Amino acid sequence: MIIDHHPFQVNDHGHLEIGGMDTIALAEKYGTPLYVYDVGMIRANCRAFVNSFKDLGVTAKVAYASKAFSTVAMLQVMKQEGMCLDVVSEGELYTALQAGFPTENIHMHGNNKNEAELSMAIKHNIGCIVVDNFYEIALIENILEKTNKTMDVLIRVTPGIESNTHQYIMTGNEDSKFGFNLQNGQAEEAFQLLHNHSHIRFKGLHCHIGSQIFEADRFLAATDVLFNEISKWKTLYGYTPEVLNLGGGFGIRYTEKDDPLPYHIYVEELVSQVKQHAEVLHMAVPEIWIEPGRAIVGNAGITLYTIGAMKQIPGIRQYVSVDGGLTDNLRPALYGAEYDAVIANKAKETTTNDVSIAGKCCESGDMLIWDLAVPTVEHGDILAVFSTGAYGYSMASHYNRLPNAAVVFVEEGIDKLVVRRETYQDLVKNDLSYE
Ligand code: LLP
Repeated sequence: MIIDHHPFQVNDHGHLEIGGMDTIALAEKYGTPLYVYDVGMIRANCRAFVNSFKDLGVTAKVAYASKAFSTVAMLQVMKQEGMCLDVVSEGELYTALQAGFPTENIHMHGNNKNEAELSMAIKHNIGCIVVDNFYEIALIENILEKTNKTMDVLIRVTPGIESNTHQYIMTGNEDSKFGFNLQNGQAEEAFQLLHNHSHIRFKGLHCHIGSQIFEADRFLAATDVLFNEISKWKTLYGYTPEVLNLGGGFGIRYTEKDDPLPYHIYVEELVSQVKQHAEVLHMAVPEIWIEPGRAIVGNAGITLYTIGAMKQIPGIRQYVSVDGGLTDNLRPALYGAEYDAVIANKAKETTTNDVSIAGKCCESGDMLIWDLAVPTVEHGDILAVFSTGAYGYSMASHYNRLPNAAVVFVEEGIDKLVVRRETYQDLVKNDLSYE
């Protein structure tokens, strides 16, 4: 039996499976809350993007946006898949180095990169820095001159495209903290500073219009805006970019309301749009880079929780509490994000009533799911929440001094602990005494 709307099976015991493994056995072995990833699905997501470009015969780079989920094991899988990597901090870069990720395939982002981050990136000869602002240009120039090194850069521009997504994950609109504005000439000013530079190889343009976007036409509209600028720069400066990085943001299914496009459709549409523009401008088709994060890991991860307290308020609702919450999945509290879940040990049973899934943190807003259809729920049942692979572990906190959950990878019938569960000693390891 296959779970509705999610790529998971139920076994003969009526237990939810992930990557061929019984989730109840995993919960018993590793405890809960537990993030579990189907590595085969992560690999399939990478290949869907990479092979779509290959099939179209265009030169491309698919960089995994590691902010979605960055651990040594995850980045080792990305290395095995031949992906490039997008990092936005020293910490993400450090994790990539620990994973033995080839530095020439790493790109660095960030709207406030500091000297230490840029120096680390330059020291390790990463593949490219995506420059965000004028302050950063000055910092990079200074470091490159001091170290007598060179660096490939793209500039990030805001194309003025509003995407149909939550305000907090919209980034392509003009009023944004990210990137150089195209409309007011700041992008062109940055171009003038960077192009023909003795230490900087200016490779092209980057934009990221936002996250959890379902409409290919938003990406196409951004491409149009970029080519509008390229056309101008070609006429004025005889410049044509080698690289066009169209960012990430490809949407995934959290609940049945979400209807994502197959990844190859995004790629086909983007490639066709870029080719058409290049033809009109009589220029070579630039390399196309993209940076999916959520689309690589989101649907490959689930979170297992143990059900504890329940509170029935007659005529109002039943609250069912789990042993995690906003500490392991901030998205419902931060964005009002909706999730789907099943009682993993009763995955074949008919649902009989609606309950609301509460986290254990001292916040009324710590609600993981409102109105989830479930069979009869009992204390000790295991809840599996789907599509928690992106921005769950990576946005985890220690609120209420809850230790971070463990992460397990499953692949070809083998389970492997890849992040151990935090201990109470871990929680106080940086605390110093005041006695
Ligand atoms: N490239 C850039 C420059 C980005 O800023 C991001 C995400 C990505 C790529 C990857 O986007 P994705 O393919 O994962 O949508 N915490 C939010 C998402 C914030 C995304 C920030 N930037 C969430 O949980 O929905």
